[in-house]
Amino acid sequence: MAIKNVGVIGCGLMGSGIAQVSAQAGFRTVVVEANRELLERGLGGLGRTLDGLVAKAKLDEAGKKQILDRIVGATDLAALKDSDLVIEAITENQPLKNETFARLDAICPPHALLASNTSSCNVTAMAAATKRPAQVLGLHFFNPVPLMKLVEVVQTILTDDKSVAQAYEWVQAVGKVPVRAKDSTAFIVNRLLVPYLLDAVRVYEGGLASLEDIDTAMKLGCGYPMGPFTLLDLVGLDTTMYVAEVMFEEFREARYAPPPLLKRMVMAGQLGRKSGKGFYDYRKQ
Ligand code: CAA
Ligand code: NAD
Repeated sequence: MAIKNVGVIGCGLMGSGIAQVSAQAGFRTVVVEANRELLERGLGGLGRTLDGLVAKAKLDEAGKKQILDRIVGATDLAALKDSDLVIEAITENQPLKNETFARLDAICPPHALLASNTSSCNVTAMAAATKRPAQVLGLHFFNPVPLMKLVEVVQTILTDDKSVAQAYEWVQAVGKVPVRAKDSTAFIVNRLLVPYLLDAVRVYEGGLASLEDIDTAMKLGCGYPMGPFTLLDLVGLDTTMYVAEVMFEEFREARYAPPPLLKRMVMAGQLGRKSGKGFYDYRKQ
C-alpha cells in the first residue's frame, strides 16, 4: 500500500506542523478540527508560517500555493474516509483519544494506518478501541514540527511489523528521522525530558534562581538550544501537565508529579506561547 492521502486530526501546535510537513512532502492532507473557528485559526497559522518562508526566499509563491492546494480543512471526521494514514494530534486525553480511534476505525478504509502523536498516552488502549489493532501505532513528532527531525515510531504489542515498516517509509518521505520505541508511557524523549522540565519548575518554586538565570544556565552551561522555561512555554504548560499526570499515574514516582506551580499556572490559563503568557509574557512582543 502506497500512502497518498494523509489525515491529521487537530490543527493546534502539532497538528498544523504535521499537516505542513505532510503537504510540503507532496501528500494530499485533510485536516480535521473541532469547529470552523479553530480550523481557521490553525490553518491561518500554517499559512503565516509559509508566508515567513516566502519572505526568507526559502519558498516561492508558486510553491506555497502548491502546498496550500494539497491541504483540505474539515470539521467532520467523515472527511478522512479516503485516508491511507491518519495522524491524531488532539488534546492529550486518553478517553478522548480512544473514542476518536473507535470513530476513525468505522470511517477509514480497511488498509489505513491509524497513528497517534500522543506524548504519553497509552497507544495500546487506542488500538484496542479499534477492530484493526495491528495497524495502530504512535507517530510522535517534536515541536516545532517543521524544524525537529525526530519522529518516534511507537509499536504496541499488537502493531504488526508491516505497519511499522510503512510508517517508517512515510516518516522518511516527509524528511524526518524515525526511531523505534515500545508503547511504554512517554516513550524515549519524554521519559527523559519531562522529569527535567518538572525539576526546573521545582527549583524555581524553591527560590534557587530567577527564570532567566535558570534558562541562561542550562543554555550556556549545557549547550541546550533553549532553557527549560522557554521550552515549557513552547510545548504548552497544559500539555506538560497532562503528560506529567499520565507519567505519575503510570509509575507512581514523585519525580513525575506535576509541581504545584505548574498546576496553578494551567488553572490560571497561563499555558505558554499559545495563550500569550506562560513563564514569560509574549503579549508585549
Ligand atoms: N517550516 C520550515 N522552516 C522553518 C519554520 C517552519 N515552520 N519555522 C522556521 N523555519 C526556518 C527559519 O526560516 C530558519 O531558517 P534560517 O536559519 O535560514 O533563517 C530556521 O528554520 C531556524 O529558525 P529559527 O531561527 O527560528 O530557529 P532557531 O535556530 O532559533 O532554533 C529551535 C529554533 C529549532 C526551536 C531550537 O531553539 C530548538 O531546537 N529548541 C528546542 C526544541 C525542543 O526541544 N523541542 C522538543 C520539545 S518536546 C516535544 O516536542 C515532545 C512532546 O511530546 C512534548
Ligand atoms: P494543542 O492544544 O495546541 O492542539 C490540540 C488541538 O486539537 C486543538 O486545536 C483542539 O481544538 C483540537 N481538538 C481537540 N479535540 C478534537 C477533536 N475531537 N477533533 C478535532 N480536533 C480536536 O495541543 P498540541 O500541543 O498540538 O498537542 C496535540 C497532541 O500532540 C497531544 O497529544 C500532545 O501531547 C502531542 N504533542 C505535543 C507536543 C508539544 O510540544 N506541544 C509535542 C509532541 C506531541
